[in-house]
Amino acid sequence: MVDLKDATVLVTGANGGLGTEFVNQALALGARRVYAAARNPREWSSDRIVPLRLDVTDAESIAAAAQEASDVDVVINNAGTLLPGKLLDQSIDEIRGLMDTNVYGPLLVTKAFAPVLASRGGGAVLNVHSVLSWLAIGGSYSVSKAALWMTTNVLRLELASQGTQVVGLHLGYTDTPMVAGVDAEKNDPADVVRDAYAGLEAGATEVLADDVSAAVKAGLAGPIEALYPQVVG
Ligand SMILES: NC(=O)c1ccc[n+]([C@@H]2O[C@H](COP(=O)([O-])OP(=O)(O)OC[C@H]3O[C@@H](n4cnc5c(N)ncnc54)[C@H](OP(=O)(O)O)[C@@H]3O)[C@@H](O)[C@H]2O)c1
Repeated sequence: MVDLKDATVLVTGANGGLGTEFVNQALALGARRVYAAARNPREWSSDRIVPLRLDVTDAESIAAAAQEASDVDVVINNAGTLLPGKLLDQSIDEIRGLMDTNVYGPLLVTKAFAPVLASRGGGAVLNVHSVLSWLAIGGSYSVSKAALWMTTNVLRLELASQGTQVVGLHLGYTDTPMVAGVDAEKNDPADVVRDAYAGLEAGATEVLADDVSAAVKAGLAGPIEALYPQVVG
């Protein structure tokens, strides 16, 4: 269980919609320092926020970040991207690029920071999944988020011995630039991050940020046809 008060938090994809919330709410919860990691770091209004260059697809930039941010207690693997369209219409290079960001990125960041977390007594990793980890309607994005979900589960087992809490966050549409073009009801990113941090501090292993995530998870126990009525002949 992690207390964000006086903790040092690193957020990847910090310039994005949820990333900015993760940074600001960590600060509001009393974090001692927040590394706002981004491909193009920007200025922040607090001296407790440290901008850090970090491209999750670039092993060198991850290694440099882990060296600079050697006091991290909590890693928020938030950076992610969307590849709209049909899986079968996309090139394997495009799909590999998506997997690099959404799956291997968080894995590489966790590998690099695991020794840092161990040196701090365990700490925590929170990976931002999606309701689409459990629902195939997102094409290659669903593939990537399903792979990330299982990566998180494996990491939880492998990091247990060093006392690192590993949390998976699932959410549906949330009002950020990623889905700006989608006309649907969306979560407020502030609510999602509030739930995520509350779960983290309560010792949770999984946070379901909305009803759709809870419903789809419950649906996994039923027949495939109930989740995908479109395949019923
Ligand atoms: N919004 C939703 O409806 C929704 C639903 C389910 C899950 N999610 C997940 O929530 C997370 C945050 O997304 P968001 O909704 O806040 O979208 P967003 O506003 O588009 O933010 C995504 C952030 O990820 C960063 N990023 C992309 N590739 C990167 C890389 N190679 N290295 C470092 N950073 C990289 C982007 O950086 P730049 O600023 O440099 O482009 C951007 O700041 C993602 O993992 C997303 O898949 C979102």
